[in-house]
Amino acid sequence: MRFHNMTFGCQMNVGDADWLRFSLEARGWQHVAEEHAQVFLLNTCSVREKPEQKVYSLLGRLQKMYWQKDPRIFVGVGGCVAQQIGEQFWKRFPFVRLVYGTDGVPMVPQALERLRDTDGLRISLLDFMEHYPERDSSFPDRLPPQAFVNIMQGCDNFCAYCIVPFTRGRQKSRQAQAIVEECRQLVARGVREITLLGQNVNSFGLDRHGDGTGFADLLRQVAAVDGLERLRFTTSHPKDIAPDVIAAFGELPELCPQLHLPLQSGSDAVLQAMGRKYTLEKYMRIVEDLRRVCPQIALSTDMIVGFPGESEADFEKTLDVMRAVGFESSFSFKYSDRPGTRAARLPGKIEEKEKGRRLFALQTLQARLTAQALSTRVGRQETILVEGRSRKQSSVCWQGRDGGGRIVHCQSHEDGLVGQMLPVQIIQANKHSLLAEAGGAPW
Ligand code: 5AD
Ligand code: SF4
Repeated sequence: MRFHNMTFGCQMNVGDADWLRFSLEARGWQHVAEEHAQVFLLNTCSVREKPEQKVYSLLGRLQKMYWQKDPRIFVGVGGCVAQQIGEQFWKRFPFVRLVYGTDGVPMVPQALERLRDTDGLRISLLDFMEHYPERDSSFPDRLPPQAFVNIMQGCDNFCAYCIVPFTRGRQKSRQAQAIVEECRQLVARGVREITLLGQNVNSFGLDRHGDGTGFADLLRQVAAVDGLERLRFTTSHPKDIAPDVIAAFGELPELCPQLHLPLQSGSDAVLQAMGRKYTLEKYMRIVEDLRRVCPQIALSTDMIVGFPGESEADFEKTLDVMRAVGFESSFSFKYSDRPGTRAARLPGKIEEKEKGRRLFALQTLQARLTAQALSTRVGRQETILVEGRSRKQSSVCWQGRDGGGRIVHCQSHEDGLVGQMLPVQIIQANKHSLLAEAGGAPW
């Protein structure tokens, strides 16, 4: 069977899609370009309204382009939109024959084989499991240098705007031993950098499914895996980041000097209405502590503009804190109502046009901050982990990331650099990336 993965949204979806691909390939399925696929797997996101709309328009396109020509073609819809819309997909799109939520992912390969063998069958894998559902490991012998590893599923925070606790269920930590074992297997197959994934990794182990291992302990155990060069993690919640996790940035050489720490707003009133459970002062203290133990740390964040009741003065506070922290990058969004959330019922909704204006102001400021941050890197010696050929640049150009996670393009006539830790000198800052030449720092 020939299949094609289409993935939206967060890195957890990317991780799910990677696992599905490996697992199906181990069963003899073939991952092919869209036009050759017999089965499509859509890993969807409903965190905002826009990505959800994309799923419907994509299904419409697939139906027209492929299913109307060959009705044997079918689609599996997974991820957060599947959890939310569920079997209603079947009514609107007859060629959707499988819906699966995040806890259903491990059962998808078997389900697809049953669907292949049984005409007219439809399968729904939407139940939440009691524990973190472990997945078979079916990695190929060689893997790309960078990999994601799930350490937990779900979220217990119920931030007022967020649909995730509804679509991904309650927090369930995975057993530390299983995580470390997966990391070992990945490194044995050529992985050099691992990103630990969870909706709120800082509360790893604090739910009743944990085995007593806290997040800082887990970081130490994974960092100790022989042959692992780099360790990152995402996403962190500021209310839960523990002092020993901050300290780890100064103690573990494998832990990269990079942290994505979603702030969401610079106004205490808005943070409170969002149910974030920290103040701006607490956030700034974390930033200070992080910079004390790891002065080079590259900080990035998520921001929402136009949360219900956000005044112009609240928004100005968001701009102020962006400047005060000097985030290297940020993801910023216009607030959008999500069904079932507390914020959807709040008064004081902000007009679309005004949200657009605020978003533009914030993103313009961010572009300036990013340019500033990148320009300070010029002249430095760095080590990059080479991920592949650079698509945008010439054929002798490679692409990788420095420890801070910045994209670096590097000219080199050498072959076979993928997976290498390459010493480089940064020679130029572009809008979103750096340009370097090979050589410089010791290996
Ligand atoms: N509206 C706008 N942005 C949202 N996010 C989550 N829910 C919403 C919403 N309803 C943003 C947050 C979160 C990121 C993944 O998406 O900033 O950190
Ligand atoms: Fe959503 Fe808040 Fe959980 Fe993040 S921590 S997934 S924003 S509820």
